[in-house]
Amino acid sequence: MAEDLQIINGSKEEKYQALLPQIQALMAGEEDLIANLANVAAALQETFRFFWVGFYLVRPTLSHRQPASEELVLGPFQGPVACTRIAKGRGVCGTAWATRTTQIVPDVEQFPGHIACSSKSKSEIVVPLTDERQQVWGVLDIDSESLHTFDTTDARYLADICRLINSTFIH
Ligand code: SME
Repeated sequence: MAEDLQIINGSKEEKYQALLPQIQALMAGEEDLIANLANVAAALQETFRFFWVGFYLVRPTLSHRQPASEELVLGPFQGPVACTRIAKGRGVCGTAWATRTTQIVPDVEQFPGHIACSSKSKSEIVVPLTDERQQVWGVLDIDSESLHTFDTTDARYLADICRLINSTFIH
């Protein structure tokens, strides 16, 4: 069984630095994607008390949809209930998927097409999860109740976390 998470008092950078090896240890020897994503969402939530932390995964569209395609479907998360499906290119998550780039949104109301799962969400960051061929297979989405919560420090460390996840996941 996993040990309790050690959360340090310190700067955002120090918190991420303490968190990274613990996330690595949590996933060590576990190949199940859902189990690892669930623990990563919980570890981020316990450390930073974000409003919403979770994953959306690239999955087939609903079976009755024609033509069949792919969209983001809600995965493991911590926080209030959220929208279950997001089309490629839509909202912040769909944009991170379509462009394969991290999206830092200081004010969601300024982001064209932002999908408001909750009116409490004011700023967010979305980091794509990519495989060895640079194909996006999911995104990490974090929302804050405050404006301007996320910066390049978050982008850098969250990308490291996404790389760790990718290295434990057998595609
Ligand atoms: N804000 C996201 C939608 C997902 S919820 O925030 C959980 C977006 O615009 O992509």
